[in-house]
Amino acid sequence: MSTRFTVRPSEDCGCGDHSSDPGSRPRKFEQLIGDSPALEAVLDGVRRVAPTSSTVLIQGETGTGKELISRAIHNISPRCGRPFVKLNCAAIPLDLLESELFGHEKGAFTGAIAQKLGRFELADKGTLFLDEVGDIPPQLQPKLLRILQEQEFERLGSSRTHQVDVRLVAATHRDLAGMVRNGEFRSDLYFRLNVFPVQLPPLRERREDIPALVAHFVEFLGRRVGRQIDNIPKETMLDLCSYDWPGNIRELQNLIERALILSEDGVLPNPLLTARTQNIGVSPSPTTFIESEHALILRTLEATSWVIGGRDGAAARLGLKRTTLIYKMQRHGISRPSLESTLEMDEPPVQTAGSLPRLQ
Ligand SMILES: Nc1ncnc2c1ncn2[C@@H]1O[C@H](COP(=O)(O)OP(=O)(O)OP(=O)(O)O)[C@@H](O)[C@H]1O
Ligand SMILES: [Mg+2]
Repeated sequence: MSTRFTVRPSEDCGCGDHSSDPGSRPRKFEQLIGDSPALEAVLDGVRRVAPTSSTVLIQGETGTGKELISRAIHNISPRCGRPFVKLNCAAIPLDLLESELFGHEKGAFTGAIAQKLGRFELADKGTLFLDEVGDIPPQLQPKLLRILQEQEFERLGSSRTHQVDVRLVAATHRDLAGMVRNGEFRSDLYFRLNVFPVQLPPLRERREDIPALVAHFVEFLGRRVGRQIDNIPKETMLDLCSYDWPGNIRELQNLIERALILSEDGVLPNPLLTARTQNIGVSPSPTTFIESEHALILRTLEATSWVIGGRDGAAARLGLKRTTLIYKMQRHGISRPSLESTLEMDEPPVQTAGSLPRLQ
């Protein structure tokens, strides 16, 4: 039911998270569920690379656990008592990204009213998790390459060079090698990032992990929503194991939470049946992942009348953060059909799909 991932750091970092008992799992790995050969192969790589300071590039579909693995790498590395700093390159407007990464001096640009440290500086001696690294714009790629190679940089508005000691873990759902072939991503940066690649398998390629994940979420989320489940019907489990899970573990987690809320008398209802009835949250037939995600987002937005945020908005229904959903909508070119439609009641207009700029 749970992973056999028993990595311990190569040296004691003093954080107290690593048991000295050789048979026990480090505390911070307890939420990493699954022991399929596909996941074990990934964890084996993670075990080997974590104690080093090498750059790791994690690739995989949405919801496969890229962020969880990045945290695991930090937690079992000798840097675990130091900061773990995260930046989603796709969620930051282009003109702010450079200052987020490298920081700025007071007066460096209009609105720079005070000095600000960048994420690289904040992550000094620790780990920087650069999420959606494939979205780093071409004009910033040389600067990122330099800091990775030389570990040095300048804040915006200053010529003083700073040194940092940062371990980079980068992640993307994009095909970076393909982007390099199409001239969309610098090959030298790609090779610098791709020192140690970790490819996370989609859930449909490790279905044997589904029962353990279901049991884990039933217990873990059950405590959170105040439901205890004594019976998961066999047909429900079979259905969960044969579904394609385009949203991977996040989608599973989200559907189990919904089922828990709807549960009665300690029996877990089949969340796929409920979702199919409402025509949300599941893909009706096996399709490619990109098509499934696009269709899933669109269906959910239609089902919520294009309300993104709030307790019953599309983001909550999909188990995503509002900003993540907005980003994914941009990526898929999904926008509200008509601006005249009713504005959302729980969010300012800037957060509705109709007002989103389309990606170039
Ligand atoms: N092996 C696992 N065991 C238990 N929970 C998991 C596992 N893998 C992922 N999760 C959970 O699934 C959810 C999605 O994981 P995560 O955010 O790491 O995915 P991601 O690949 O970064 O997705 P995205 O590309 O959409 O950002 C999280 O709540 C995470 O805790
Ligand atoms: Mg992520």
